[in-house]
Amino acid sequence: MKMSIRLTVNGSPHSLELSEEVPLIFALRNDLDCHGAKLGCGLEQCGACVVLADGEPIYSCTTRIGDLQGKAIETLEGLAAESGELHPIQQAFLNHNAAQCGFCLSGIVMRTKALLAKNPKPSRQDICQALDGHLCRCGAQPRMIRAVESAAARLRGAS
Ligand code: FES
Ligand code: FES
Repeated sequence: MKMSIRLTVNGSPHSLELSEEVPLIFALRNDLDCHGAKLGCGLEQCGACVVLADGEPIYSCTTRIGDLQGKAIETLEGLAAESGELHPIQQAFLNHNAAQCGFCLSGIVMRTKALLAKNPKPSRQDICQALDGHLCRCGAQPRMIRAVESAAARLRGAS
């Protein structure tokens, strides 16, 4: 049965009429024109679908839209400034060539945003732990770790 779901996505309010069982990623990609989050495994095993809900990383492949009533969702599309200037995390990933095919990247960037919001000066171990649930089949993890360190420094104003 459909229900009315209200949430904000990247700061904009939305009201959707959907079955409460619909996974968030389908609402994002089919109804909200947000294509950053990717559907990989669909089983909370790869991290490609990770977005933030009230600042916390969630798997959008398994999170029911009905459980997100009133939440603030953040996706990759909300990171860059309206001027087009990249968010420091995006810029750091670009600077370090921290992606190959890019399929995993949206989830990793959003996970990094959540990490740095809580821990502005993460150790390498903190970063590895945070990214542990994210698969990258291209093997770009070493560059990603350096990108997270660089983004952390930039956000602290230490670069
Ligand atoms: S698609 Fe959600 S964790 Fe893989
Ligand atoms: S860059 Fe290809 S899966 Fe990570």
